[in-house]
This record gives sequence, C-alpha cells and structure tokens, in this order.
Amino acid sequence: MCGIVGIIGKSARDVVLNGLKKLEYRGYDSAGIYLNDLNGHEYLTKAVGRIKNLEDKLSDNEQGLVGIGHTRWATHGKPSIANSHPHYSSDKRFYLVHNGVIENYAELKEKYLSDVSFNSDTDTEVVVQLIAKIAKEKCLSGFLAFKEALKLINGSYAFLLVDNKEPDHIFIAKNKSPMMLGIGDGFNIIASDAISVLDQTKLFIDLQDGDVADVTASAINIEDIAGNHIERKPYLVNIDPNSASKGTYEFYMLKEIDEQPSVMRRLSKEYFNDDADVKVDANIVQSVAQSDRIYILAAGTSYHAGLVGKNIIEKYTDIPVEVGIASEFGYHFPKLSKKPFFIFLSQSGETADSRVVLKQVNQLGLPSLTITNVAGSTLSREATYTMLLKAGPEIAVASTKAYTAQVAVQAILAKAVGEYLKIAAAIDFDLKRQLALVAEGMQEIVDGKEKINSLAKKYLATTRNAFYIGRGVDYAVALEGALKLKEVSYIQTEGFAAAELKHGTIALIEKGVPVVTLINDPATADLTRGNIQEVESRGANVITIVAKKFAKATDDIILPDVDYYLSPLVTVVPAQLLAYYASKNKGLDVDKPRNLAKSVTVE
Ligand code: F6R
Repeated sequence: MCGIVGIIGKSARDVVLNGLKKLEYRGYDSAGIYLNDLNGHEYLTKAVGRIKNLEDKLSDNEQGLVGIGHTRWATHGKPSIANSHPHYSSDKRFYLVHNGVIENYAELKEKYLSDVSFNSDTDTEVVVQLIAKIAKEKCLSGFLAFKEALKLINGSYAFLLVDNKEPDHIFIAKNKSPMMLGIGDGFNIIASDAISVLDQTKLFIDLQDGDVADVTASAINIEDIAGNHIERKPYLVNIDPNSASKGTYEFYMLKEIDEQPSVMRRLSKEYFNDDADVKVDANIVQSVAQSDRIYILAAGTSYHAGLVGKNIIEKYTDIPVEVGIASEFGYHFPKLSKKPFFIFLSQSGETADSRVVLKQVNQLGLPSLTITNVAGSTLSREATYTMLLKAGPEIAVASTKAYTAQVAVQAILAKAVGEYLKIAAAIDFDLKRQLALVAEGMQEIVDGKEKINSLAKKYLATTRNAFYIGRGVDYAVALEGALKLKEVSYIQTEGFAAAELKHGTIALIEKGVPVVTLINDPATADLTRGNIQEVESRGANVITIVAKKFAKATDDIILPDVDYYLSPLVTVVPAQLLAYYASKNKGLDVDKPRNLAKSVTVE
C-alpha cells in the first residue's frame, strides 16, 4: 500500500521514477517526487494518476542528488495533488513520504498543531508539520526532531524525510510497513521492496520495526528511537531482475498465468528429492503433526487458496482445519482447540489483517507457519516457520501464480505431515507425479487460451454481472474465479455453491447472464448438471469448465484429468484466463485495476 523510493548520492530523478514505476503495484492513484541538487535548488512535483503523468510533468531541469518519491493508494483523503506525497511543512523545510496509517493523527493535530494551516486531508501531513513544529520550538536538528515526533506517533509507517537545512541526509523510520535499504557504490537507496531498485544494487539491509536511520551518500547510521546504535547486516538479494520484467507480454497477468506450469515444476524440484521423497523442514512437520487443529488465516485470493488447502490437508493428515478471513479472525478469535497450529497464507507476506492475527498468536506463544512468496517479509519474520512459494515476483495486482503455488505448497505440507503421522492416504499419494500431471494440464490449458478468449468475447463483453458455481473443491474455485473476474473486468460476479443459488440468488438469473459452471467433483457432478438446467431454463448463458472424466462433447472447456484434491490447480487456470481476456477486451489496464493495491498493509 503506497510505494516509496529515495536515493542519495547519485542523479536521483530517473532512479526514483523508475523505482516508482516498479512499485506501482502498491498503489497508483497519484504520485510525487522531491528533488534537491545540494546546490540550493529543490523541486517538488506531483500528479494525479500513474507515474507516467508525473514523468510527463517534470521538466528537464528538475534534477537532484537527493530524491524521495511516492506512489499512493489513498487512505486518508481522496486522490488529488494536495493529498499526494511528498508532504511538506508550512515553513517548507521538511519533505516527507509515508507508507502506512497514522492512527492518532487527529489527536496530534488537535493537541499540537491547532495553529497550523494544513494543505491536505492526510494523516501524513500531520507528521511533517509536527516535525517542523518540534524542530522550531525545541531548536532541534531535523533528525532529533524526527525522533521526538516518532515518540508521539501511533500507527504503521515507512517514512523518508528530507530536511532542506541538511539536504545531504535522508532520515528514515520504519514500523510495520516494509522498507529496504540498498547499499550502492557512492550512493544509498531506500525502497519499499528490493525488486524496484535491483538495477541499482543487490546489497540490501532489511530495516526492522522501530528502526530509525540517518543515511548519507556514504554512510548509514541505524538507531532505535532512544538513540542506541543498531548493527544490521547487509545481504545479497538473489533475484534475477528479468524475472520482474514483462518481456514480450502486454500484461504481467498473462505472463504470470503462463508461468504456472513452470512454478509447479520448480516447487516439485524444491520440495522433493530424486526418489520422490517429500522434503519439508522436520521442525515444521513435527509441529504441525502435534497439533489437534490447524487454523489457516489469509485474505482475498490467499483465503481462497486456504479453502482449497483445507480439503487437501484434512484428507492427507486427518487433522481438522479451520480457514479464517484474517480481518474477521483478528478481532473475533474463536474458541481455539487445545493444541492449535496457525498457517498464514500470503503472497506478499505483508498483509496487515493477517499480521494482526499473527501478533496475537505470538502473544499466546502458539506455533505458526507463514507460506509466502517473499522471503524476509514481515509475516515470514514474525512466524515461527516459513515455507516459500518460489513463484517468482508476482507483479500484476490480481494474484494468479501465487494462488496455485499456495495450493501446491499446502499439498506438499499435507503429504509430509501425513507421512510422518503414517496416514495411509498420504503414504500412497504420489504427489511429485501428480504435480507433474498438473503442470502438463496447466500447459495444455494455457496453450489453448484462444478458445477461452473467444468465450470471453462471446459472453463477457457487455454483461454487467455474472456467476461462478461449483460444489466441493469447485465451490472454493468458484469464489476465486468470481474474485478474479470482478477485480480485473469490473463485471459484478459472485461465486456460489451450485445448489445454494436456488435458495434466493437465482432471482438474479435472467436472459444473457453468464454462469460459469465448474465440474470436477465425482460425488456431485450430476447434481451440478441439474443446476445448469435450472439456470439455462431462466435464460443464463452457461460456460462449462469440466474434468475430462465427466465431460460431454458440448462442454466449453474440458480439463485434463488430475487428482480430485489438486483439481483446483487446473480448474482455476481457465477462470484466470476468462478474467484476463474480459478485462483486456474491454481495453482496461489488466495489471492495475482501479482502487486496488497489491500489498494491503492497512487494516
Ligand atoms: C486478488 C488478490 C488479493 C490478495 C490479498 C492478500 O487477486 O491478489 O485478494 O490475495 O490482498 O494478499 P497477500 O496474499 O499478499 O496476503
């Protein structure tokens, strides 16, 4: 949520702009940049909308050796020039960019800043005005005033501050929002994630919550808020910068859909040895195996992956599983079992709603595992254990390959725990082979994507609403298919348990409403065919996505046969493609749907 880049010691403008472009997934309703040439000239430019608008607004002479920039996902205050960052103090001494939410901004404003006139409606401006006030009233340096202000602030933040009395420094503070410090040759760079500035350096320091830093072109001083020096070891980030580029694709979403077969193969390599024995950290396996109930917590698409995981884990471990929406669970904990184990599913590893639950789990001293795509992310650091998704950077806002990787990793965990518990179903489950079949099946679907495009053109071009229905594991995929379609194409879409539709919602079915129907479940395939009749007789346009073993010649998309519990891995692919083409054919920005951000770091 909001992306930040800052650099000191190198021509800043293009580095900041390029970094912000790569961070647009974190929000893209407005952007801004502050540049200082260390020679008495400073420039502040802001634009509503994409980074491109900001770039177009910058004139050639706006350059600097220090720069801080921001791409915004609005929380407090609508997207506008005034509300976009960097914010500045009334005396135009301090410039601040912020990712996070200041919870007590209204109190701070009332208590300390009643005499200040504000330029924006944001919580961030309160902070920069507060710093300026403290600096002035207490005659403090910028860094000291910043630290004094931080003592008064509650909330989440990654801040970059420039004091134009000392412009050869960038001051940093981090609490709950991500922030990486990159070390360059003669310069230092700061960003919300490493990928956005990998073209500048590969050597990074992960700042931790509570860290405050004073960074110049040649030095980094990290302290806690009380001023005690902290040593943080730099490490090399091992990501291929090309993995974060679109290559020949028009949109990341299609690239990431197409990458799913290779993600399955990569996971197989990572988590199995040549003899097809599953390899999961023994501590994780034992800790899960000792539990009497597993609680899976997640949000959005990751929550849907958890619903699929529940079926797999229960089947192969015999341990009951509950799946919770993190934002609900965090404030309404159910009565827990005697020996609970918590799994957090999160592509980004930064989702604030999940973190609220994890903090409480840690306070209760309970074991937890984060399954994430981002090593070193907050949820990974704070959980007892981590398993990585190995999906490679996921840039499109709509999650695709992280979902399938989450399902696969849960299956891997289930297999390992089930074998440890000597559950026959797990011992007999040749997951390595099944993942190979899944990868082949996914490949077959992505190779036949033009057919899915034709269906999208025929049924989804003008409709305002649509439904996904399915039973058993298909119900979970129906929820995900509906989310995917609505978030990228803006077609209002609901996912339903197929039989539940007739208990009310069928009232919405009329001529031409698309109903995408998923059929993989042996127990209910015929019943779902009956549900198709019900909606067709009311005028619906049904699109069928059916496993080969239940398929009829008239079905629209026939899925390669794979294990029932793993079938969501292939069923979801046509659903992702339908969403992609529905959006693209409408001329929308598939990768950056309106109002969304990829990493949701506010509750
Ligand atoms: C939808 C989507 C979101 C995320 C959700 C959780 O396509 O991507 O619903 O799944 O915001 O994010 P993570 O997985 O990063 O915790």
